[in-house]
Amino acid sequence: MSYEVKNQQLLDWVKEVAELCQPKGIYWCDGTEEEYDRLCGELVAAGTFRKLNPEKRPNSYLAWSDPGDVARVEDRTFICSLAKQDAGPTNNWMPPKEMKKTLTGLFKGCMKGRTMYVIPFSMGPLGSNIAKIGVEISDSAYVAVNMKIMTRMGKKVIDVLGESGEFVPCLHSVGAPLEPGQKDVTWPCNKEKYIVHFPEERSIWSFGSGYGGNALLGKKCLALRIASKIAKDEGWLAEHMLILGIEDPKGEKTYLGAAFPSACGKTNLSMLVPPEHFQKDGWKVSTVGDDIAWIKPGPDGQLYAINPEAGFFGVAPGTSFKSNPNAMHSCAKNSIFTNVALTEDGDVWWEGMDWTPEKCTDWQGNEWTKGCGRNAAHPNSRFTSPASQCPSIDPEWENPKGVPMRAFVFGGRRNNVIPLVYQAFNWSYGVYLAATMGSETTAAAVGAIGNVRRDPFAMLPFTGYHMADYFNHWLQIGRTTPNPPRIFSVNWFRKDANGKFLWPGFGENMRILKWIVERAQGHSAGAAVESPLGWMPRYEALDWTGLDSVSRDQFKELMSIDRDTWKEEILSHEELFVKMYDRLPKEFLHIRELILSGLWRSPEHWEQFTPEDEEGYND
Ligand code: GTP
Ligand code: SPV
Ligand code: MN
Repeated sequence: MSYEVKNQQLLDWVKEVAELCQPKGIYWCDGTEEEYDRLCGELVAAGTFRKLNPEKRPNSYLAWSDPGDVARVEDRTFICSLAKQDAGPTNNWMPPKEMKKTLTGLFKGCMKGRTMYVIPFSMGPLGSNIAKIGVEISDSAYVAVNMKIMTRMGKKVIDVLGESGEFVPCLHSVGAPLEPGQKDVTWPCNKEKYIVHFPEERSIWSFGSGYGGNALLGKKCLALRIASKIAKDEGWLAEHMLILGIEDPKGEKTYLGAAFPSACGKTNLSMLVPPEHFQKDGWKVSTVGDDIAWIKPGPDGQLYAINPEAGFFGVAPGTSFKSNPNAMHSCAKNSIFTNVALTEDGDVWWEGMDWTPEKCTDWQGNEWTKGCGRNAAHPNSRFTSPASQCPSIDPEWENPKGVPMRAFVFGGRRNNVIPLVYQAFNWSYGVYLAATMGSETTAAAVGAIGNVRRDPFAMLPFTGYHMADYFNHWLQIGRTTPNPPRIFSVNWFRKDANGKFLWPGFGENMRILKWIVERAQGHSAGAAVESPLGWMPRYEALDWTGLDSVSRDQFKELMSIDRDTWKEEILSHEELFVKMYDRLPKEFLHIRELILSGLWRSPEHWEQFTPEDEEGYND
C-alpha cells in the first residue's frame, strides 16, 4: 500500500474479499497520472490495449472486447431487495441470501493469477455533501483506468473517507481465474454474468463482464440503481439525465435536464452547437453532464442538479465534427476507445465519422474495406474521455451546490406516434408522460434492436426499487417543490412514409430548446396552442432562420396526433400499468381518462390533430 488507510471497515472488507477471491496480489490505486500511465502500459503489454498514434491521438488507447461482452446485460441484472415486491415487476429478483450464496461460489478463487485493484472513487465533487463515496474492488486494470477518467478516483478519496466515513462496497471480477502457466486472453470475461445490487445493504457484486455499464460500478450500478433507492429514502432524485445550460441573448441562463434511453441522444443534446444564426444572436449552450443527474431540493425549495461523473462514456458511431464537434474535441486526447476500428496510421475510426478510410481493421481485428457491407466499429463502441476536455463544459459543472433546474425533457426513439415536441399541462401530467414513455431498443443492451418497449423516465433498466413507488416519488417531489420545473416531451426520431427522419436533429434541436426555454421561463415569445396531449408550438412559434429542409407540411407531419394510433398507444400504457396495479399512483388513471377525453374533442373535425389546423389561443 503506497498510502495509509485508516478506515477499518474498508480494510476488513478488502481482507475478506482477498481471502475469498485469492488474487496474486492487492494494489491500492492512488489516482495519479504516473499510475494511469503505468497501468495503461501493462494493458498494452498484456495485449488488451493498443497505444494509438500519439501524433493523431495523444495519450490514448484502443481496446477490443470479447465479442460476447459488448453491452449491458439487462436479463442478468438483479435487484436483490429483502422483499420481492420492493424490487417490483420490472426488475429481476432473487432472495438476497440465495444470491449471496450463488455469488460467493462464483467469486471463490475467481481472481487467481490476477492482481486485485482497490479503486476508491467519489461520485460528485470530492468532499461535497452531495457526493457519495464508493470503493470498487476489481481484477481488471481496464476498469481501474476507466474509473480514473469517469470518477474522482484515488488516494484523495481515502483522505475524505477518514476513519469512519461510509462507502458503497462495489465488488467486480471478470470471472476468469488464471491457472499457473496459463496464458491470459486479451479480454478476459465469463459466459456467466451477474450484475447484482443489494439495495438495503447498499452493495454491488458484478461478475463475468468487463464492459462499461456492467463493470464501471460507479456509473449505472451506484449512481443510478443504488442511488435511486437512497434518493427515494432521502427525498431527492437520481436520474438517467443529461444536464445542459442555455444562455439567451440577454444573458439569462436556463438549466434543464433531459432523460432519453440509452443511445437515444443524451450526449449529443448535452453538447449541442446552436445553428450559426442562433450563435450570432448570442445563444450559448453549455454541458454540465451527459448521462446521469442527481437532483436535490435546495435551501430555496428549488431543484438543483449535479453531474456525479467526471468523464463521458459516449457512443462512438454517429459522432463526427458535423454532428457533435464537442464530443470529437473531448476524445481528441487522453481517451480510451473500446470496440472502434483501427486505421492504418494508428488512429480510430467508426461509422458516421466525417471521412471513410479505404481500409482499416475492424473491432474484431479483421481487415475491413470501404463498401464491404460490414460495420468496422461495433454499434455500441464507446469513447471514455475526461469531461474537462469538453469545449462546451459549463463553468458550474463542478459546483457542489448544483445548477437550478427549470425544465425536464423526456424523449425516446419513436419512428411514429410521438410528436416532435409538446409541454405537459402540469407536473402530474408530465410524470404520466414520462412514466409511459416508449422507445426502440438499441445496441447499448444485449438483445433485439428496434423493438418499442415502455421505458419509464429512461430508467427501466436503472431503477433500484419498485417502478410504481418511483412514480409516486416523482409525484411527491412535485407536491413539495414550489413552482416546479416544466415538463416536456420530444421525439427527434419520427420518420416519414419512406422511413426517412422527418427532423434533422443534432444542432437543429436548438430550435426546440429555444421554445422550451421560453415556455419554462414564461416568456411571451413561447406561444402555444392546446392539443389533446399538451401545449404545442405552431410553426410561427419556432425560429426557422437558416433551416430550409423542413417545410411547413413536414412540420405538420412531425407534430400530428393520429387519433387511432393514440388509442393503441394508450392501450399499451395499460399493459405497463396492469403489471404494477397495486402500487400505481391513483392520479394516473384519471390522467389517462383526460387524454382520452382530449382525443375525442370535436371528433367530427379531425382524425389527425396538428397545431397548424387549430385556431387556438396563446397561453
Ligand atoms: P447512452 O450513453 O447509451 O446513455 O446514450 P446517449 O443517450 O448519450 O446517446 P448518444 O447521444 O450517444 O446518441 C446515440 C445515437 O443517437 C448516436 O448514434 C447519435 O448519432 C444518434 N443521435 C443523437 N442525437 C440525434 C438526433 O437529434 N437525431 C438523430 N436522428 N440521431 C441522433
Ligand atoms: C447506457 O447504456 O445507458 C450507457 C452506457 O450510458 S453504460 O455505461 O454501459 O451503461
Ligand atoms: Mn446511459
